[in-house]
Amino acid sequence: MTDAAEQISHFESIISMDQCIEPKDWMPEAYRKNLIRQISQHAHSEIIGMQPEGNWLTRAPSLRRKAVLLSKIQDEGGHGLYLYSAAETLGISREEMIDALQTGEAKYASIFNYPTQTWADVGAIGWLVDGAAIVNQISLQRNSYGPYARAMVRICKEESFHQRQGYEIMLTLSRGSEKQIQVAQDALDRFYWPSLMMFGPHDSESAHSARSMAWKIKRETNDDLRQKFVDQTAPQIQILGLRHPDPKCIWDPERGHYDMGEINWEEFYSVINGNGHCNRQRLEHHIDAHEEGAWVREAMQSYHEKKKQQSYAKAS
Ligand code: 3HC
Repeated sequence: MTDAAEQISHFESIISMDQCIEPKDWMPEAYRKNLIRQISQHAHSEIIGMQPEGNWLTRAPSLRRKAVLLSKIQDEGGHGLYLYSAAETLGISREEMIDALQTGEAKYASIFNYPTQTWADVGAIGWLVDGAAIVNQISLQRNSYGPYARAMVRICKEESFHQRQGYEIMLTLSRGSEKQIQVAQDALDRFYWPSLMMFGPHDSESAHSARSMAWKIKRETNDDLRQKFVDQTAPQIQILGLRHPDPKCIWDPERGHYDMGEINWEEFYSVINGNGHCNRQRLEHHIDAHEEGAWVREAMQSYHEKKKQQSYAKAS
């Protein structure tokens, strides 16, 4: 068997045995590129996702809510760092990834291009957005690339706190005054459908799913994960006593799942192609913050250079 054939068969045997490909293993270029695409965009989503919630830090209704929100936002920054580090093991630099984000070449989750207009939006994001992310990320804990799978284990633990704090905000509002119930309903109506979009296009429209499933980068399809999320969310909406945004979301005892209406895919593609409410604002804010933080990166760089020179001098 030629070397190339041996490499491919070894790669395929690791995947077929549900084991992990590690950074030093041989991997097909297309596998590496697909992982860089997905992991870096996942990281971008974590970092950009800090902005909509950060918008409410100074206006949280109590010190407790502010402290919880601050801790959640800090977690998201950490998730971004784990994921950028996982992507770097595939041979791409942090600078290249940040550049791809800031030039608009790389994507991030479309939901973060929706504005957070009320405090209830912070609850809806924690409950629905982090809830959808958990459904997806629990599945990704079993993906075939070692550093990505391991990053997911810790991220999932922190996401469950994020989801619970969001649902608690919604529960508090839904047990409150008429106005608070109305604000909670409004947030649910505005964030429900974009949360379903987080699972990507239908499997039949998905550009990457078939290959990602074959390589076990994805362990469940976009539509299967979306169905899981819809099934878990419908009873939660009932507990809140709010109106479900999807009138077609009705339990089908034969399927053992909730039915769902059609997602507005025109809106989905319009937002991911840059026409959402906040696309420009999110990137401008990221670029400003990145430029403001340049001195920290330069200071760290020169510190490391100096440490390296000192250790060379000692060694010689
Ligand atoms: N927002 C933006 N772009 C999206 C999208 C969304 N909701 N759903 C799909 N897309 C893009 C894909 O990136 C792809 O574009 P590309 O070729 O330029 O990368 C295109 O639409 C076609 O979609 P596919 O289904 O073919 O793409 P994937 O196979 O990559 O599936 C995915 C999309 C399900 C998002 C998959 O990439 C994935 O599971 N990513 C990891 C999870 C993730 O990124 N989650 C984002 C949210 S993280 C988060 O919410 C943090 C939380 O703490 C708040």
